[in-house]
Amino acid sequence: MDLGVNIDHVATLRNARGGVEPSVLDAALICEMAGAKAVTVHLREDRRHIKDNDVLELKKHLACNINLEMAATDEMQKIATSLCPYSCCIVPEKRLELTTEGGLDVIQNKEKIEKLIKALHLKNIIVSLFIDPDLEQIKTASEIGADYIELHTGSFSNAFGTDNQDIEFNKLKNGAKFAQELGLKVNAGHGLNYENVYLMNEIEGLCELNIGHSIISRSIFVGLEMAVKEMMELI
Ligand code: PXP
Repeated sequence: MDLGVNIDHVATLRNARGGVEPSVLDAALICEMAGAKAVTVHLREDRRHIKDNDVLELKKHLACNINLEMAATDEMQKIATSLCPYSCCIVPEKRLELTTEGGLDVIQNKEKIEKLIKALHLKNIIVSLFIDPDLEQIKTASEIGADYIELHTGSFSNAFGTDNQDIEFNKLKNGAKFAQELGLKVNAGHGLNYENVYLMNEIEGLCELNIGHSIISRSIFVGLEMAVKEMMELI
């Protein structure tokens, strides 16, 4: 299983003082050197962490895959089709949320997302949809031509160590199986950390995990290279 490291929080720290440290590009290069298959950045509508120029710099200097998380908006479509990252992960976005809460409602936004997928495909960009492990959402993702789904592991992560852990884990397992039967490739992410990630190894056929907060948090104590390597050993 591959690892994609979400480095949004490096930008959050940089923006706290409005300067250039820590460098998002340097962080990405360390993740790449440590063996991450992808670096993920979420260019939010409000630019609260990653800025347009960060994505440009990554595109210029990184050899590993760039996975651009973005909302299904005209503005983001324009940016993605001009920058051409390796992949785009379409996520829901609410201005007041602290982080991406819940998966994309592909059923409600079917036409809009289908159009976006077509536009990204014209530029040979791989498209992933960030969704909850809900069978109807997965089916719709397949119908509108997504290449990947990224299963939202937030509910599983919140339930880890509680009575609901197995229920949430089985939703992911069944969702991944169903998606693969439909021909979708499956990634997963959100809330995964050094304690709960081992269970992802029990979901057959997962391609990549996208992990941010826990890796960047651990990097404060052991350095980013070690934090990435430790996570890679667990998956
Ligand atoms: N995948 C997606 C689509 C996300 O939006 C996020 C959070 O930005 C992550 C993965 C990573 O989540 P975390 O920071 O909790 O590891």
